[in-house]
Amino acid sequence: MEKTINLLEDWGYIEVDSSGRLVHLSPDFCENFSINKSAYLGAPIYDVIHGMYGRRRKKVFFGVISGINCLIRVTKQNQQEIYRVIARDGDIEHHEMVSFMHAIDLAKMNKKKPHQNKYSFEEIIGDSMAMKEAKELAIRIATSNSTVLLTGESGTGKELFAQAIHGISRRKNNPFIAVNCAAIPGELFESELFGYEPGAFSGARKEGKPGKFELAMNGTLFLDEISELPYEAQGKLLRVLQEKEVERIGGTVSKNIDIRIIAATNRDLGKLVEEGKFRQDLFYRLYVFDLTIPSLRERKEDLLSLAHYFIDFFNERFDLDVKFIDSQLQEWILNYEWPGNVRELKAFIERAMNIVEGDTLSMNTIYFSRQMSTNPTNREITPLQSLEEEVRSAEINAIQRALQEANGDRTLAAQKLKIHIASLYRKIAKYNLK
Ligand SMILES: Nc1ncnc2c1ncn2[C@@H]1O[C@H](COP(=O)(O)OP(=O)(O)O)[C@@H](O)[C@H]1O
Ligand SMILES: [Mg+2]
Repeated sequence: MEKTINLLEDWGYIEVDSSGRLVHLSPDFCENFSINKSAYLGAPIYDVIHGMYGRRRKKVFFGVISGINCLIRVTKQNQQEIYRVIARDGDIEHHEMVSFMHAIDLAKMNKKKPHQNKYSFEEIIGDSMAMKEAKELAIRIATSNSTVLLTGESGTGKELFAQAIHGISRRKNNPFIAVNCAAIPGELFESELFGYEPGAFSGARKEGKPGKFELAMNGTLFLDEISELPYEAQGKLLRVLQEKEVERIGGTVSKNIDIRIIAATNRDLGKLVEEGKFRQDLFYRLYVFDLTIPSLRERKEDLLSLAHYFIDFFNERFDLDVKFIDSQLQEWILNYEWPGNVRELKAFIERAMNIVEGDTLSMNTIYFSRQMSTNPTNREITPLQSLEEEVRSAEINAIQRALQEANGDRTLAAQKLKIHIASLYRKIAKYNLK
């Protein structure tokens, strides 16, 4: 298979601007494919390369040029994309082309290092003042070894921040271990966090098991939803943090631990302390640096850049080429409250990308995705709201369904809902529906 790659030749290239139009065709390209340069300048790329629609996110793909099957490599240069023909049918066998493409995919996968952090600060999208401040503060505290307490509503990006902080700290080559405190039943807390020796208790694994503290050795332990830790477990956690050592259940030796703790909560821990639901001593132990991640409502400027970021993300995943959000949908996105924050926005874009046709997300997509959002899995994305909020979203849902079923005919939709047409108009205006 080695020779396959050596066989690849250069059959010329074309350059395309950000709107997908040809701005340059190399002389050898024109010659090899008998193409008249001046006839194609300014034309959409699809006019020259056929059979590529929807495949543009791949770095190497098949396309048909002047009736010839080609293997094409795409590279980006500033705002332009360069499409270079690296093989033509006849040069190499079809199966060789396919295995070459696989080889490229594998090389990409192998680049990921095991402990390397999944996220970095560049991947935290948002240029709003609130977000810039949060990122700056996070970068400053990252280098320290102190405990960080991240506060923010669900879905604002707390875990993302935790990973990014770890990723630029001097622990970055050591593990980042996440523990969701809400997910561990009180009686399992110790075995999960401290681990146990063989035969420590009935039902324990024969070989014993390392705890999360051990697994996070020299790295970062992310304690998510820390407010949900049972009161008794809070005391045990505090002891480990103070003594900086752990002992497995049923063990006889304790190990020194060097771990940085990043805790996160969507509740007001200070208030829980006042109410006697969270230990004050643990609170102060955690509350060394506190960083609040603003809700999406407080940084609406970030909405569209986040939406486009997720469009790109799902373009890559689903092999699509969506580029735009139409102005109506943009307005809707900007006016919606996003109680589930970035997580909800991401899920919303994902749903829209599953039903989009063409290169533009529009209001049509939300009629569908709203309807879908009533299914239980999506419901978990947003936490239970006040009754008023819940009623409000149920009303929006019903109206959008009616409009969709009535194909946008408001009179018909009002009839379906058994309300007066004027009342429907009022509600459409009130909820900013289109
Ligand atoms: N600023 C951001 N830029 C890009 N992705 C984000 C941002 N904030 C959140 N996300 C994404 O939204 C989802 C929820 O974020 P997460 O960190 O799990 O929130 P939290 O821990 O606060 O509930 C994740 O998929 C995360 O990658
Ligand atoms: Mg979380």
